[in-house]
Amino acid sequence: MEIDRREFILAGGALAAGCASDKMPALKPEVTEVPDVAEVPADGEVPKRALILSPPVLQNAAETSMGVGFAVSDMANGYVDVSESPDLAGARRVKCGGYRVTDMNDKVMLVRLTGLKPATTYYYRIGADRIEYKNGYAMKIVGHEEDARVYSFQTLGAGARSSFCVINDTHAQMAPFGMAIDKIAELKPSCVVWNGDACNTQETIESLLPIFYVPKIARVDYAACQPYMFLPGNHDCRGLASRRIERAMMFRQPEERLSRDWDLGRNFAVRCGEIAMIGLDTGEDKLDSRDVFAGLFNMEPYRVAQRVWLEDALARPDIQSAPYLVAFCHIPLYDARPDANPGDCDKDGGGRYSTDYAAWQRTCANLWGPLLEKAGCQLVITAHQHRYRYDEPMAGRSWAHIVGGGPELGVTGRVVNGERVQVKDESHFPTVVEGFVGGGRLHVRVHDVLKNCIAGEFDYAPRRIDM
Ligand SMILES: [Fe+2]
Ligand SMILES: [Fe+2]
Repeated sequence: MEIDRREFILAGGALAAGCASDKMPALKPEVTEVPDVAEVPADGEVPKRALILSPPVLQNAAETSMGVGFAVSDMANGYVDVSESPDLAGARRVKCGGYRVTDMNDKVMLVRLTGLKPATTYYYRIGADRIEYKNGYAMKIVGHEEDARVYSFQTLGAGARSSFCVINDTHAQMAPFGMAIDKIAELKPSCVVWNGDACNTQETIESLLPIFYVPKIARVDYAACQPYMFLPGNHDCRGLASRRIERAMMFRQPEERLSRDWDLGRNFAVRCGEIAMIGLDTGEDKLDSRDVFAGLFNMEPYRVAQRVWLEDALARPDIQSAPYLVAFCHIPLYDARPDANPGDCDKDGGGRYSTDYAAWQRTCANLWGPLLEKAGCQLVITAHQHRYRYDEPMAGRSWAHIVGGGPELGVTGRVVNGERVQVKDESHFPTVVEGFVGGGRLHVRVHDVLKNCIAGEFDYAPRRIDM
């Protein structure tokens, strides 16, 4: 994969000042142009490509930790220098990987920043050593690169700004993704939930890089100052790369969960100001027993394990005390249409349903729904159907339900005369769902980012808190 270093630097440099929020001092973009060849080789040697290929991607925002990833072109040992000071005074250097050995690799550097203060602004810079590795006794540093820019982020927690955004079903399509990113740059929420189907079917870790690290959009540094919380969709479960997708978008910090829940690396329960945000993973949209999967999926016990996790998460004092409770997952937890496949039958349920895969997830709704209801959850935000929809609360479901739009830009696929074709359909548009607290209410706006207008606007009263 060839990534244009100059393209990244120029786009990123132009946006470096844009990363600065109103509360941050404006940071001067230091890089205006960098040659494609970062290191001048000795005579006769093949010129090396730049080592750092992407701006940083903030991920897994939490109260006291933050993940930082960036793409590299060669064997590397990456690090982050982090400080509370804009000039990085007294910065702490954190290397990629964990204890014992660093995570030397040639694709993505993943650095976990821990021991941070809640709701606090931090400044950081990324860098990496280029490593020539022959064997366990023959390795050396053969270069070093640092991104010249200083970026910033704010940790979450009860004292953070109560604001989030949600994108979903971007499916590696740069046009709708770019539109959503532009809207997020305008809204500047505390964090963004990437609610699944970022991928299509990815076989290699390298193929994940244009999706998460070097997307061909104007704001290539979309996540350098804006943390993303990635929740997988069914498409993010497919292909060999899905088995190690945490090599690109890391699992959440282990201290966020009990040892019992060691493998629940995507779930989150985190305070974002007055909002308690709950992340759940609905998994695949077909049964584990489906012939096409060759017995390679294990979603059923995964969903049950998340119920146990959810019950404990909702009982945590910091979550219980939040006036607003919003849950996120990819596959809808509700659908009123009688022909919408609920995902708990084989194929199309003997012709009862319009699709041979889950349009919604009845199993998850039955496992998680009563817990969310009991906790006074006001809203569940889902995705998957590629068409925006709002379901009012009703008897037996106290929470409202929003289904985000998909990547289709005013068109949809239909079968016409036996052939699948694209037809004009204005009900299909990508969305950014925005949530924020103001005037004692949780306000939610669904932005149609194709027409740049608001497709739906709702607000919710605080929940009754019984501590
Ligand atoms: Fe999708
Ligand atoms: Fe999906």
